[in-house]
Amino acid sequence: TIEQITLRTILDSRGNETVEAEIYTESGFGRAAAPSGASTGTYEAKVRSPREAIEDAKRTLIPSLIGEDTRDQITFDALLRESDGTPDFSGIGANVAVALSLACAKAAASSLNLELFRYLGGAFASETPLPLGNVIGGGAHAPNATSIQEFLVVPTGASGATEGVFVNAAVHKTVKKILQERGKLSGKGDEGAWAPAISDVEAFEIISEAIATVSDETNVEVRMGVDVAASELWDGERYRYRDAARTREDQIAYMADLVDRYNLVYVEDPLFEEDFEAFAELTDQVSDRCLICGDDLFVTNVERITRGIETCAANCVLIKPNQIGTLTDTFEAIRLAQESGMETVMSHRSGETTDATIAHLATAFGCIFIKTGAVGGERIAKLNELIRIEELI
Ligand code: PGA
Ligand code: ZN
Repeated sequence: TIEQITLRTILDSRGNETVEAEIYTESGFGRAAAPSGASTGTYEAKVRSPREAIEDAKRTLIPSLIGEDTRDQITFDALLRESDGTPDFSGIGANVAVALSLACAKAAASSLNLELFRYLGGAFASETPLPLGNVIGGGAHAPNATSIQEFLVVPTGASGATEGVFVNAAVHKTVKKILQERGKLSGKGDEGAWAPAISDVEAFEIISEAIATVSDETNVEVRMGVDVAASELWDGERYRYRDAARTREDQIAYMADLVDRYNLVYVEDPLFEEDFEAFAELTDQVSDRCLICGDDLFVTNVERITRGIETCAANCVLIKPNQIGTLTDTFEAIRLAQESGMETVMSHRSGETTDATIAHLATAFGCIFIKTGAVGGERIAKLNELIRIEELI
């Protein structure tokens, strides 16, 4: 049972304030921090200012949780919901909720002397996800760079996560070299991807070249993906790229064409977050060869995933615990997606801390990929944890 809870304001990777929670039981300890997004979906759970939310939580929420059993995650999360009293966690703040919820699970695992992935995944958790990492990016994560938010790579031929982590880092490094040769080398965006002032087409070409080089050197097949974050491009009439404007129909055709032209294995948020029908048209065209993944579309929300299942909008669901606020809700979203034959991808946010919990969640819950960048301290915190987990499996 919970003896003490500490909440504090800490730094995230963008230099913003975020919430960290610590939960102490007689024999357990758990610590977790909330990440934060820049291209957030409209229907995500709502964060509050960390300092204000923590002050409020100390007054009523925290005292009400003392004495609760960390091994009863469902009840703990239900208490967070009850105390919040809103549909979107705007009462206590989704950042406070997710930090507490994850810290609860970690305290329970620690009290049982189990790794978190083992506690949550049980005896049969036996596979780590492959890392899906962005190597070039722009959109809301970097100014004056590409229109498409993230150009991703996944080492589809890797023997496991560990090999995959190094392959992705090699691609990231090779992309740097090619950018340098072309006189286009730039700084990095929020997630550690290069953020050059190049067109989307040039980004695809540079990464194709980098993948060919790295695949040759390592004998590991690597494929490309994108997170278009299309809600950021949609103005109500057209998808506004730096060098083009596309109607809804143009956008569907453009995405299907990119899938074939670049052999994409993964396309996230190719269309506006309200347009389930357009998602369904694209999914119908390419689902035999590519994952069409909903991030802003689904926001890890069971109701929106249900609507996606009914409309055949996608064949993959992005999972971000802080979009929904609790581990229980995160689990329910994953279970629903997987029972409906959809893949799940566990994801970081653009604003992160060194918290590595998502590496455990992705392994415990059988996600096909973990999307958490390729380099950078707060990104490698997850990737290195994945290496440790794979050693234990
Ligand atoms: P965000 O971006 O964390 O800024 O929302 C990540 C994503 O869109 O997947
Ligand atoms: Zn996204």
